[in-house]
Amino acid sequence: MAHHPIIEAFQRAGQAQVFAFFDRLAPDAQQRLLAEAAEVDLAEVERLYRSLVAKSDGAAGVNLAGLAPAPYEKRPEHGGDAADWARAKAAGEAALRAGRVAAFTVAGGQGTRLGYDGPKGTFPVTPLRQKPLFQVFAEKIRAAGVRYGRPLPWFIMTSHANHAATEAFFAANAHFGLDRARVHFFRQGRMPAVDFNGQIMLETPGSLALSPDGHGGSLRALDRSGALDLMKREGIDTLSYFQVDNPLVRCIDPAFIGWHVLRGSEMTSKMVPKAYAEEKVGHFCMQDGKSVVVEYSDLPMAMQRETDAGGGLRYIAGSIAIHVLDREFVRRMAAGAEGAALPFHRADKKIPTVDAAGGAVKPAKANGVKFEMFVFDALPFARNPVIIETLRADDFSPVKNAEGLDSPQTCRDDQLRQFARWLTANGAAVATDPSGRPAVTVEVSPLFGYDEDSFADAWKNLPVKPAVTDGLYLA
Ligand code: UD1
Repeated sequence: MAHHPIIEAFQRAGQAQVFAFFDRLAPDAQQRLLAEAAEVDLAEVERLYRSLVAKSDGAAGVNLAGLAPAPYEKRPEHGGDAADWARAKAAGEAALRAGRVAAFTVAGGQGTRLGYDGPKGTFPVTPLRQKPLFQVFAEKIRAAGVRYGRPLPWFIMTSHANHAATEAFFAANAHFGLDRARVHFFRQGRMPAVDFNGQIMLETPGSLALSPDGHGGSLRALDRSGALDLMKREGIDTLSYFQVDNPLVRCIDPAFIGWHVLRGSEMTSKMVPKAYAEEKVGHFCMQDGKSVVVEYSDLPMAMQRETDAGGGLRYIAGSIAIHVLDREFVRRMAAGAEGAALPFHRADKKIPTVDAAGGAVKPAKANGVKFEMFVFDALPFARNPVIIETLRADDFSPVKNAEGLDSPQTCRDDQLRQFARWLTANGAAVATDPSGRPAVTVEVSPLFGYDEDSFADAWKNLPVKPAVTDGLYLA
C-alpha cells in the first residue's frame, strides 16, 4: 500500500481497512479519500467507540438519578407576572435597536422523514403563496430589521450534502430581499460511522461513511467558520437559534431576548407544555442543580406519564428547540475547555457500505453507529440559564413527516389559524371552525406582520381594511 502520513496514522489506529481499495482508485479519487480521512479525529473516534459502543449494549445509557422537572417562567395568561414580561420585552427591544442580535438557523439535517429531496429550507409551506421555509424566515428577519431600525445578520448552518444547493437557492431568489452581505452560510462538521467493532466504515471503495455531527456541531462550526469573530466585530453578542423545520417560530422575539439579557443568561430556552404524555419532544429537567434536556427516547415512558398533585403531567416542559445563545458562551463550548464540551450521542443505523470485494451493501438492519451532538446539551454548562414558556400556537408547528402529525398539512392549518387570530384580534370578521381554522385560505406576508404587534400596527395603518375572503394576501 502507498506510503502517506494519513494512511500510516490510520494503520497505527487499527483503521487500515479505510484504504483497502486505495491502490485501485484513480489518482484524483485517492486524493478525495485522503482529504476525507484528514477530517477524521482518530483519537476522538477511538474514545467514542470505547465509551459509547464497546461498553454498552446499545440501550441508552442516560443517567436519570436525581432527575426532577425544571422550573420555568410562566406566561402572564398562565399565572406569570405581567410586569416581568413587559420589562423583558422592553429590554429585548432595546437590544434589537442597539444591533446586538443575529438570527441563526440550523439547516444541516437530512430531512429523511419528510421524504423530500433537497435542502429542507427550500420546502414550500405557506398556505397561499407556497413560500419555502427559508423565505418565511428571511421575511421575518427582514421585517424585524426594519421595525427596530437595525438590519439583522442571519447565520445559516448547512451540511456538506446541502451547502451548494442552499447557497444557489438564495442566489436564485435574490436572497429574498435581504442584503446578501448579511446572510452567512457555513457548513457543519462531519463524523465517520463505525461498525460495532469500532472500524470506520466506507460508503464506497473511495469514500468514508460520513454524516453531519448533529445540530450540537453548530457551536464548533460557528467558531471555526469565523462567525463568532464577525459577530464580535459588529457588536453582536446574542444569537437567536431556531430549526429549519418550523415556520411558525418567532425568529426574533423581543421578550425572549429580554429575559436572556435581564437575567445575564448564557442560554435561554423556550418550552411549551407537552400536549400529551407521549409527545415526542425533549424534556426540560433539573439534575444536580443544573438544567438539562432529556430526549423523549431517553426518558422512560412511566416518567413521561407521571402526574402531579393537580393531575397535570409532572414532566410538562417540552423543548421545541428554540434558544438564545450568548456569543462568548458559544466560543467557550466550542473550545471544549475543561469539562465544557458537548457529549456525543450514539445512533445505531443502517449504513450503506461495501463488502470485502468492494461491492455495494444495503443493510437490512443496523450495521453501525453514527455519532451526533445536540445543542441542548450545552444547557448545563450555561451561566444563569432561563427557560420561558411560549404559546405553541405562536411558535411551534414543525414540518417533519410527510403525513399525519407535524406534516405540511398540520403546519398549513396552524399558519391559517394564526392569521385568523391576528385578523380577529384587530376587528376583522373571520368565520372559523371550532379549532380556529378559517373557512377561507388567506396569507399574511411576514413583511406585513410577523407577530401580534407588527400585524396590529400594519392593520391599523391600512386606509381601507380588506374583507377576509378566499385568496386574501396581505403584503
Ligand atoms: C428535535 C429535538 C427535540 C425537539 C424537536 C422539536 C433532537 C435530538 N431533538 O427533534 O428535542 O423537541 O426537535 O422540533 O434534536 N440538524 C442539523 N444538523 C444535524 C442534525 C440536525 O442542522 O446534524 C438540524 C435540522 O436541519 C433541523 C434540526 O436540527 O433543523 C432538528 O433535527 P431533527 O433531527 O429533525 O430533530 P428531531 O428529531 O425532529
